[in-house]
Amino acid sequence: MPTAAANRRNLENYWMPFTANRQFKQAPRLLESAHGMYYRDVEGNQVLDGTAGLWCVNAGHGRREITDAVARQLEKLDYAPSFQMGHPIAFEFAEKLAEIAPGGPAAKLDRVFFAGSGSEAVDTALKIAIAYQRAIGQGTRTRLIGRERGYHGVGFGGISVGGLVNNRRVFPLLPGSDHLSHTHDPARNAFSLDLPEHGAELADDLEKLVALHGAETIAAVIVEPVAGSTGVLLPPKGYLERLRAITQKYGILLIFDEVITGFGRLGTPFAVDYFGVVPDLVTTAKGLTNGAIPMGAVFASRAVHDALMQGPVEQIELFHGYTYSGHPAACAAGLATLEIYKKEGLLTRGAILAPDWRDLMHGLRELPHVADIRTIGLVAGVELKSRPGAAGARAYEVFVNCFADGLLVRVTGDIIALSPPLILDRSHIETMVFKLADAIRQVA
Ligand SMILES: Cc1ncc(COP(=O)(O)O)c(C=O)c1O
Repeated sequence: MPTAAANRRNLENYWMPFTANRQFKQAPRLLESAHGMYYRDVEGNQVLDGTAGLWCVNAGHGRREITDAVARQLEKLDYAPSFQMGHPIAFEFAEKLAEIAPGGPAAKLDRVFFAGSGSEAVDTALKIAIAYQRAIGQGTRTRLIGRERGYHGVGFGGISVGGLVNNRRVFPLLPGSDHLSHTHDPARNAFSLDLPEHGAELADDLEKLVALHGAETIAAVIVEPVAGSTGVLLPPKGYLERLRAITQKYGILLIFDEVITGFGRLGTPFAVDYFGVVPDLVTTAKGLTNGAIPMGAVFASRAVHDALMQGPVEQIELFHGYTYSGHPAACAAGLATLEIYKKEGLLTRGAILAPDWRDLMHGLRELPHVADIRTIGLVAGVELKSRPGAAGARAYEVFVNCFADGLLVRVTGDIIALSPPLILDRSHIETMVFKLADAIRQVA
């Protein structure tokens, strides 16, 4: 790997996303099949999946139940429109999702809007927030607040509230969007075994933004409870609680982007359950369908939903939706996925494995270049010191070395992220740590 056969393929036509296309095509890494915890590349080499694909294949690869459910659904009803029309399986999926919806019995976010991806779920939630404020007579509230180092997909809404400079610098952004400070503070919190002790006060940034812009201009704040794509950044103890209190004080909606943390990643069904902090809206995707069919979903509180269910009944309450909202095949995949999660206890399995995961990952601490290790549930971030003048190069080399040794990891800057399928056992964790350690030792 990379291989002669891979190089012989025509790779010119496919413009790859979030990829250094020219570099990749010189030395491609091509995955051809997958089962359980493993991929197989085009040369037949086995690759242990340390990232559940892209944080999405929570029940492991090649699940027969999902394949069969999708095939049956496509035979029965391949597609049906969702505008002023419905099909039973979309209602059935929403009802099943409502059973596990974040928020607990008292404040369940059990009104579900379907989208086609995480980015679409984010833009949907942002639009619902603005529409809600208008519906309750707060039409001046159109400003959206995100956080530095946040990732909320690639729609114009998502990049506006997102905090990744490379996603933003080339594109025009929504007017009025602003950002809280990020919470990453390795100087005070490096190698925390639990949530970071320091930084709850960073939530008070919102007070500053309220003072600067006026609460009456702010519709919503969106954060990832645990920032995934920017390097597994955990919320300091008390931070999310404080953010919730301040948003409530000023009538600002709080959105948790759970596209990564939803569906068992932290050892609880949702991060809402892990932290015991209930926002007004939750965005999801990825594990919603085990990554098998693209889909996103927004969970809304009844208060938000019901505020929009006003006015003449013939009126469309929210002018928003996608051709593929509630796609029958995606709903079939999602229903089969939920069944697997339930039968195999996967939404809470992470809690059982988390202590082993944490202890084995923290064993990498003494390796050269390691600056910080962070774990929560079945997520880990291993941060390396950057090579002077070449930020990101060291972690990229570790990624390439890992792949050559049959392990898929993910890198962002100089942070290596792991988030395996939730079906793994201790031996997989040991293999991941062993291979990752080897790959780190190889880099200068
Ligand atoms: C927190 C978060 N929000 C949104 C997205 C965007 O999801 P998608 O790539 O499905 O559009 C992602 C993707 O990684 C994500 O991690």
